[in-house]
Amino acid sequence: FSPQRLKGKRVLLSAGPTREAIDAARFLSNPSSGRMGYALAAAARQLGAEVTLVSGPTALATPYGVTRVDVVSAAQMHREVMARAASVDVAMMVAAVADWRPAHPSDKKVPKSQMAATLELERNPDILADLGERYGHGRQGDGDERRPLVVGFAAESHDVIERARSKCARKGAHAIVANRIGGPTSTFGAESATVHLLAGEDEPQTFSGTKTEVARALWEALAGHLQR
Ligand code: C5P
Repeated sequence: FSPQRLKGKRVLLSAGPTREAIDAARFLSNPSSGRMGYALAAAARQLGAEVTLVSGPTALATPYGVTRVDVVSAAQMHREVMARAASVDVAMMVAAVADWRPAHPSDKKVPKSQMAATLELERNPDILADLGERYGHGRQGDGDERRPLVVGFAAESHDVIERARSKCARKGAHAIVANRIGGPTSTFGAESATVHLLAGEDEPQTFSGTKTEVARALWEALAGHLQR
């Protein structure tokens, strides 16, 4: 790898899970560890980029030299990502964002005896789709207007490549990184990963290894798309 492949580039990442409050003591979330997003942040920084990591709650240390913005909910993550996207070269959404949030969260702890058996939910914003709509595939920047490369992730249990490709198109991303969940090579929480990079009409590129190795390889492959 060339050591400073991302020098002068600004990278924005989302990582980790989000938490959606039910009340003061309960939330909805998912088992994302944040490792892949943190590995990508660390690798981008090592390759010379200026990196901002918008992170949901994780147990991980901030990678050296990375600016971290802590958020809890999807709504907060949406706000912090959208506020920064116009001034970066790459916006890569690695977070496992909760799709739904409780419609009527309580500031106080609701006693068990007063909790209903059903929870009314409302949809969270889709951050990647909003980036795609604003900056993604099919958008033409005006002249030298800055327009980030929009990259998403897709965790799929089956038909991994096809589902990821249609997700990429549906959300307007320039590229998507597909990985398999469930089974022996599941990515959630694991130390290692196998991923497939889908960018435009190109054949998928597959990378396997520790999340650190995969992160480096992904940036190396994506750097070619940044020479704009
Ligand atoms: O639709 P799905 O959740 O499978 O899409 C995954 C991709 O979309 C990831 O890049 C994830 O970070 C992003 N996403 C998002 N906001 C959401 C849901 C997903 O940015 N509300």
